Amino acid sequence: MNKISAISYCFLMVITFLLHGVHGGGGDDTLENNCKKLASANISYDFCVTNLQVNPRSKSANLQELGLISMDLIVANATYIKSHIVKLQKEQGKGKSLSFRNSLQNCWNSYSMALYTANQVIKGMSTGPRYSYLQAIEVIHRSPNNCEAGFMKWKLKSPLTKENKHFEHLVRIPIQIITYMSQ
Ligand SMILES: *[C@@H]1O[C@H](CO)[C@@H](O)[C@H](O)[C@H]1NC(C)=O
Ligand SMILES: *[C@@H]1O[C@H](CO)[C@@H](O)[C@H](O)[C@H]1NC(C)=O
Repeated sequence: MNKISAISYCFLMVITFLLHGVHGGGGDDTLENNCKKLASANISYDFCVTNLQVNPRSKSANLQELGLISMDLIVANATYIKSHIVKLQKEQGKGKSLSFRNSLQNCWNSYSMALYTANQVIKGMSTGPRYSYLQAIEVIHRSPNNCEAGFMKWKLKSPLTKENKHFEHLVRIPIQIITYMSQ
């Protein structure tokens, strides 16, 4: 009896150890490893490492945690871009055409939507099932393209192309994480 329970105890320990190992408690979850998993035609490895390492928690975070960290970066960047747009509106908006000012306003609206949606995703991400957030993140993903399209429609040169490209690349990270984890 004692012997049997000792054996089953040992067995349990081995199982626990194995499961823990498989879940990446040891070694597997480095930012470099995770960015290798995410790197694809759509996400550059360097972009992944450079942007996520801004948060020190990324170093040992698993993919799901990286998803949240990337959402925090998206919130920070959308906030930055919105204030950059306000600066552009003050500096040069007045002297420009109505269509230019309308296009800037369209960008501000797009990024407000992105920011709102990103905060909603973060609120739910820690409790809800992650797969249902893909659609919300795709809404965020469309914001930089909406912004660019506004200028293109009037054949105007967008003053936000660099910001839009960077933001769009950033949003691919949580999309790719969800895609990878649901495979
Ligand atoms: C790249 O992204 C597009 C849309 O953003 C998607 O349709 C496509 O499947 C992605 N390709 C890869 C290789 O992940
Ligand atoms: C946001 O992205 C821009 C590039 O468009 C970058 O220069 C800036 O440092 C980023 N800021 C934040 C707070 O993420």
